[in-house]
Amino acid sequence: MTRNILVTGGAGFIGSHVVEAYLAAGDDVTVLDDLSTGKREHVPPGAKFVQADVRSPAARELVAKGAFTLLNHHAAQMDVRRSVADPLFDAEVNVLGFLNLLEGARLGDVQRVVFASSGGTVYGETARAARRVGPEAARLAVWHRQARLGVLSRDLFPVVRPRARGAAL
Ligand SMILES: NC(=O)c1ccc[n+]([C@@H]2O[C@H](COP(=O)([O-])OP(=O)(O)OC[C@H]3O[C@@H](n4cnc5c(N)ncnc54)[C@H](O)[C@@H]3O)[C@@H](O)[C@H]2O)c1
Repeated sequence: MTRNILVTGGAGFIGSHVVEAYLAAGDDVTVLDDLSTGKREHVPPGAKFVQADVRSPAARELVAKGAFTLLNHHAAQMDVRRSVADPLFDAEVNVLGFLNLLEGARLGDVQRVVFASSGGTVYGETARAARRVGPEAARLAVWHRQARLGVLSRDLFPVVRPRARGAAL
């Protein structure tokens, strides 16, 4: 059965590979990305493309009205140095932006959300705190209960493949 899937961050490194895998499996794929670090040419041919910020009403409306069965979330401010220098911006994109999409998913009756977390937040020194009180984890738990969304978090370790920024491949 063909699924209708939204991949955020699909013009970026991990997201564009995820899009390729869905297309190869025969799914319909829409990419949402603001191209702040991603590249339009990294969006695999065959995927629809919407340029929008995950914090915007337009992004929330796309999730709510797109009749998606699955939201696979990879759009992120993932520069560690910037997250330390400007934590408010980091939280706006990574926490509030994600909540904005989750709210769209609740309104649009999206059945499943897959979320790219980081191995650094789960298996490092702060593992227990991050799992128990981290804002994203806490919010996910609330959404899971209230909206009955099936939320799956993938904890990625650093990955090096073609299209990774700074990778000499
Ligand atoms: N690459 C790794 O080794 C690694 C390791 C651990 C976790 N992760 C996680 O995987 C996810 C994807 O990482 P990546 O390496 O593909 O990063 P990336 O920077 O290549 O991709 C992120 C994408 O998100 C888009 N984006 C950023 N801010 C946005 C916004 N406000 N609205 C819409 N789109 C926005 C960017 O344009 C880019 O295309 C991130 O959550 C990251 O923390 C990656």
